[in-house]
Amino acid sequence: DGFPATRLFNQGYSYTYDDVIFLPHYIDFPTDAVSLSTKLSRRVALAIPCVSSPMDTVTESSMAAAMASIGGIGIVHYNTPASDQAGLIRRAKSHKIPFSYDIVFKSPSDSILSADEFCSAPCIFVTELGSERSKCLGFVKKSDWEKLDDKEVRVSEYMTKSSITLPASYSFEDVAGYLGKDKSEFVPLARDYEDGGEEIVNLVTSEDVERIGGFPKLGLPSLSSDGTFLVGAAVGTRESDKERLEHLVKAGANVVVLDSSQGNSIYQIEMIKHVKNLYPELDVIGGNVVTAYQAQNLIQAGVDGLRVGMGSGSICTTQEVCAVGRGQATAVYKVASIAAESGVPVIADGGISNSGHIVKALTLGASTVMMGSFLAGSSEAPGIYEYQGGRRVKKYRGMGSLEAMTKGSDARYLGDKSKLKIAQGVVGAVADKGSVLKFIPYAMQAAKQGFQDLGASSLQSAHDLLRSGVLRLEVRTGAAQVEGGVHGLVSYEKKAF
Ligand code: XMP
Repeated sequence: DGFPATRLFNQGYSYTYDDVIFLPHYIDFPTDAVSLSTKLSRRVALAIPCVSSPMDTVTESSMAAAMASIGGIGIVHYNTPASDQAGLIRRAKSHKIPFSYDIVFKSPSDSILSADEFCSAPCIFVTELGSERSKCLGFVKKSDWEKLDDKEVRVSEYMTKSSITLPASYSFEDVAGYLGKDKSEFVPLARDYEDGGEEIVNLVTSEDVERIGGFPKLGLPSLSSDGTFLVGAAVGTRESDKERLEHLVKAGANVVVLDSSQGNSIYQIEMIKHVKNLYPELDVIGGNVVTAYQAQNLIQAGVDGLRVGMGSGSICTTQEVCAVGRGQATAVYKVASIAAESGVPVIADGGISNSGHIVKALTLGASTVMMGSFLAGSSEAPGIYEYQGGRRVKKYRGMGSLEAMTKGSDARYLGDKSKLKIAQGVVGAVADKGSVLKFIPYAMQAAKQGFQDLGASSLQSAHDLLRSGVLRLEVRTGAAQVEGGVHGLVSYEKKAF
């Protein structure tokens, strides 16, 4: 019944996730017996196979901290100066809380002129020098500032004096316990320095405790050997990226992702060798690739992981603009088949819009899925919510969109310094999805049910069943795809009696 993968994927067609469907197999274990633990790269292990994309509307400190806290990992984008990117990595690693506020400091003689100065935080901290490494004197609550008639008044005249902080090493549960007893609105978390100084690195509000307390719990967080969250960093392949790499390593990046839309290039191979030479202990992920030939070149150059996908992302126009790419199901299967021979884990990057796509990507040979649009629009994604047509949305843009390239991301799409910028991505918005801390656990539970239907209790077992031909697939006709989705209903409105 059905086709083994080797036959289905060798007929000259480029299949997307939606084109193919697995035939169910045999269940002899409960859903909770399914383990989704996996590897991002040769030496980086994760409890769940989820990775957030290195895009400036997806992964900064808050997303990186959230992804690590639930057992995945975030890859911090590099569409920003090297020192800023290093700062984002440091911030995500500076505490054990699954989100990160933008912390702003003022000196006592400063004024706060606009509400925007508060960024995402409910308060601004006042320190002796107005900078992060200086004695904390107190804070200004946004609600207090809003009541001021004269916004030019110095903060020293109305700030709340307080020097209470909790150690940045506290877990979310520790902080929640403190706030429960203390009944304060929020508490700052500070890191101590050897010279006696301290720096406020994050804060937790009682609203956060209430919000997150009700979320389903996932497995173990992703931690590095020093106990900090695992955080990845993207970097390019230009000469200047070698200097950036140094900043990223100093900031504690646990893995680097060489970010190119077509990774099989002399530039990337040189960069892989450079990283391996300088930092033999640091895993380097190469890509993007979609063919066995591309993959083989990068494996030979020494990559510890491969990122797969070209033009499959929701904001991508590469296939239309450049006429190159591959259907993502075929790309993942082909690359993973080669990479498995060398023990190199594969990241299926782009095109994930439901938990079924996650099951397909992982069963076709990927060890993790990288997601952009699936995570954009969440409370942990950078940017602010806006209202459009009555819907709450956040901006999501391709790193090859003109808007993102104007900010600097053109390196991903241009091997040289071309004067004419050609967009390979678009700018859009995605609906508010709430917190990744809430919806990823649901997606993982759904993925476990998919694995159970396939009779696979782990990713490795799914890969083995696929390669041995036990798992069978078929191509879905257009009508079968319609049948597989919700169809034939008219909208049903509840009547108020
Ligand atoms: P999803 O489908 O998860 O895709 O939103 C995210 C992935 O898309 C890639 N990416 C791009 N590809 N033009 C492209 O062709 C772009 O502007 C662009 N921006 C991101 C990237 O691999 C990301 O992880």
